[in-house]
Amino acid sequence: ARKFFVGGNWKCNGTSEEVKKIVSTLNNSQVPSSDVVEVVVSPPFVFLPLVKSTLRPDFHVAAQNCWVKKGGAFTGEVSAEMLVNLDIPWVILGHSERRSLLNESNEFVGDKVAYALSQGLKVIACVGETLEQREAGSTVEVVAAQTKAIAARVSNWADVVLAYEPVWAIGTGKVATPAQAQEVHYELRKWLQENTSPEVAATTRIIYGGSVSGANCKELAAKPDVDGFLVGGASLKPEFIDIIKSAE
Ligand code: 13P
Repeated sequence: ARKFFVGGNWKCNGTSEEVKKIVSTLNNSQVPSSDVVEVVVSPPFVFLPLVKSTLRPDFHVAAQNCWVKKGGAFTGEVSAEMLVNLDIPWVILGHSERRSLLNESNEFVGDKVAYALSQGLKVIACVGETLEQREAGSTVEVVAAQTKAIAARVSNWADVVLAYEPVWAIGTGKVATPAQAQEVHYELRKWLQENTSPEVAATTRIIYGGSVSGANCKELAAKPDVDGFLVGGASLKPEFIDIIKSAE
């Protein structure tokens, strides 16, 4: 069985005061045990030490990005080694905002995932189609190509969570229907089955992201191939607790 996974991507938001408030809300929440749900929150880099040192021990932290190879003369970047040095267990890679705004290609994201894994990080790897691509009928082709660039470089899928985040659903309030999410998750699992191994396909968590809320999470979570969520806006609010609770 795949353990339910709920990630909170805080994106480029928050002051230290707001971060302390969110952590306090999380720390005081009653949620299913870590045997049932894995909870990972992803603050901006500068708040990672604060969050890591104050967050309850059954919740974990993720960085939102890291550099594609060993650190060095790369101004403004943060290396995988640094995250490991600070005991940050997870990193989000290939988020659509970075793919589109910062021109990260499928190959570059694949290289990043491979390097982060090689350094001992666990990776939330994001894939997803734009509205234009969906309307052109190329959703499965697009997410398969994104996944292929990762699979070509990675053999250790045990430390990868695959996040399906349709770009048209991110930050728009236009959540995918449970049927739409299930269809793509099913196709991604089938792709893994045919291109990696049956074991990888059966065990890899495929989580959904894009306008997930306290109100819509339960129906999505009920779908057989939806193994959790990557939550943006709602992860900054108390309703994130309700989303964690959709694990049971
Ligand atoms: P929203 O939940 O704000 O739509 O963002 C989703 C997302 O991009 C998570 O990585």
